[in-house]
Amino acid sequence: MDRDIKDQSHLPANDAKSLMCASNLSHSFDYKLFENVDINIHQRESIAVLGVSGSGKSTLLHILSTLLKPQVGKVIFDKGYLYEQGSKRLLEIRRDDIGIIFQSHYLFKGFTVKENLEISSLISGNKLDLEIVKKLKIEDTLNQNVSELSGGQQQRVSIARVLLKKPKLIFADEPTGNLDMQTANDVMDVLLDYTRQNDAGLFIVTHDEKIASRCNSSYRLQDKRLSLVYL
Ligand SMILES: Nc1ncnc2c1ncn2[C@@H]1O[C@H](COP(=O)(O)OP(=O)(O)O)[C@@H](O)[C@H]1O
Ligand SMILES: [Mg+2]
Repeated sequence: MDRDIKDQSHLPANDAKSLMCASNLSHSFDYKLFENVDINIHQRESIAVLGVSGSGKSTLLHILSTLLKPQVGKVIFDKGYLYEQGSKRLLEIRRDDIGIIFQSHYLFKGFTVKENLEISSLISGNKLDLEIVKKLKIEDTLNQNVSELSGGQQQRVSIARVLLKKPKLIFADEPTGNLDMQTANDVMDVLLDYTRQNDAGLFIVTHDEKIASRCNSSYRLQDKRLSLVYL
């Protein structure tokens, strides 16, 4: 909390375009999770969301990433209201523009790392980018079956698979949760480099304030509100 309240360093550069704008989001399940949440994600911007378990972080991430229509509020992507698109267009956005990294990875068991990554290339039409594979330190595992890998290695394969399709926006739900500190920082390097180099946006949910502090801005979901925090 030692930053001046007038510190504007969390704000994106003036020339950065908005990639996604969500306003007045509210959502409840058994209880109200949050209300009046506004989020704007710009090119080259990374945003972290902290909050205790059950505060609604994953729900917010699902709403922004095409997976869940909010009960109240709007999400604007590519000049249109996300949840007013037909299901075909919504699927296209999810496939082409949005990359989602989950806590638990959904790799194709029984296939090699390379085969798992090639699926992403096949869908997106992008070539397998060995730079990303190397940065994630999985280049030596390419011919191994994914079920032989450690949890941390599998997580990095799932991150590579998402980045290889070159999404405009990455949504990552506790992506470093089961990684040691060094590997977690390596993964953050890759996600932040990707965001800057591809004019993309990053929205990450994490428990870890050190990880959050590496992003341009951090918020906490608490008492049903999303508030900016200085770490
Ligand atoms: N699809 C759902 N149906 C019913 N309740 C849900 C659903 N998804 C989440 N919840 C509930 O909403 C609350 C917040 O969940 P979640 O967004 O996963 O929080 P967090 O990611 O902060 O731990 C939890 O109490 C959870 O059980
Ligand atoms: Mg969660």
